[in-house]
Amino acid sequence: MSGMTAKDPVKASAARENLPASDPLSVVSICLDKETWGTLKLFADSAPLIRLDRHLGEYRVDDHEPALDWIGSPAPDVCLLDFDNDRRSAALVAERIHSDAPDTSIFAVSSQSQPDLIIQAMRSGCSEYLVKPLDSEQLLNAVARVGGRRKEKKEQARAQVLAFIGAKGGCGVTTLVTQLGTLLSKSHSQKTLIVDLHPDFGDAALYLGLTKYRYHSYELVENTDRLDAELLQSFVLHHSTGLDLIPAPPGTEPARPLMSGALVQTFEFLRLRYDFILVDLPSGLNDEHLELIRYCDQINIVAITEISALRNVVRQTDYFTKKGIPSERLRVVLNRHQSRGIITEAQIEKVIGQKLFWKVPNQYVHILKSISGGDPLSQSNSEVAKNLHEWAANIGKKPTGEEKRGRGILGLWSR
Ligand SMILES: Nc1ncnc2c1ncn2[C@@H]1O[C@H](COP(=O)(O)OP(=O)(O)OP(=O)(O)O)[C@@H](O)[C@H]1O
Ligand SMILES: [Mg+2]
Repeated sequence: MSGMTAKDPVKASAARENLPASDPLSVVSICLDKETWGTLKLFADSAPLIRLDRHLGEYRVDDHEPALDWIGSPAPDVCLLDFDNDRRSAALVAERIHSDAPDTSIFAVSSQSQPDLIIQAMRSGCSEYLVKPLDSEQLLNAVARVGGRRKEKKEQARAQVLAFIGAKGGCGVTTLVTQLGTLLSKSHSQKTLIVDLHPDFGDAALYLGLTKYRYHSYELVENTDRLDAELLQSFVLHHSTGLDLIPAPPGTEPARPLMSGALVQTFEFLRLRYDFILVDLPSGLNDEHLELIRYCDQINIVAITEISALRNVVRQTDYFTKKGIPSERLRVVLNRHQSRGIITEAQIEKVIGQKLFWKVPNQYVHILKSISGGDPLSQSNSEVAKNLHEWAANIGKKPTGEEKRGRGILGLWSR
């Protein structure tokens, strides 16, 4: 096993491609001997994959403080634990860390490599066993495995972002977004956020009966650089169903431009806090929102059975495809559908050149009642409500970790 030298920075390994430079793993070392500590420091300095947070010079087996008090809180991503000074104490420390900080990966470090010692360390909660002198490749692979798991976890915690855009004004986008949002929150217990991105005259707040607010979505995007959980709360309105909303500007001043990149940066922040984010977009081919549309998991184009709307569906899908948005992310939803309408479903699909993803029945009175009461769930027995329940259930089935893993394990960390 070769030791790492100053001329051997973490370079050669293919695994490095999977490691981010921007978000290093936090590392705490316990009782590492001088030479191994020096090697670890060299590793940390040669590539920003790990950050050395603290070094503990003793095994804390006698005190009853929770492990987080001495390894630090939030818990580090990795604890490097030297087993050579006192194997029994090291094993006890590993057990404590494993039980108090289960998300922390424990790497045993030792100059001995007999199988029974390795098994003993693994049984006490260590996930890696590194043999001295520390080898760069061995350390890099162990770090990559932890990074991959962390990335995977983050991915599972990321919201699905679903955009809704009208084939023309008045097709029912805000109606569908607010109905689906409340259903996902209430009936499917999914943490859901609606972002109304109309530059002016957005109706989502009105349809949800949330008409008193100070800040709006455009201000949120403008403040993306200083966004934290507390600041976000000043933008979020809460509906009684548990649904959150960030409303559109009130339309009392001219529409303001959005800074390029800021929208996606804002959604990257929001994504970590919700299961679903539904975006109410203005109709039309708005290049300002294109970067967000590209970023969304699903783009629902909402149409009605009118020649102009159906023609626009064709234009929109062509435009989005030309802009590099994969066609499988585009879905056409037919709102206000009448089963005995003059234009048949087959004719509609022929005109738009694709299958309809969903059809929502035309029930004006039910929709109007739920909008005017600010409670989308109030008409729960209507045909349209049942239809939307079904759609929400369909959306509520998030891709499983297994499906996501299909994209490749080690690549997870770098995306
Ligand atoms: N399934 C439906 N059945 C009957 N009426 C509907 C249905 N969906 C929406 N509507 C009605 O259509 C009208 C327009 O709906 P909505 O405001 O949701 O459209 P929009 O696409 O958001 O419009 P805008 O382009 O102004 O944002 C509303 O009066 C609403 O009540
Ligand atoms: Mg609307």
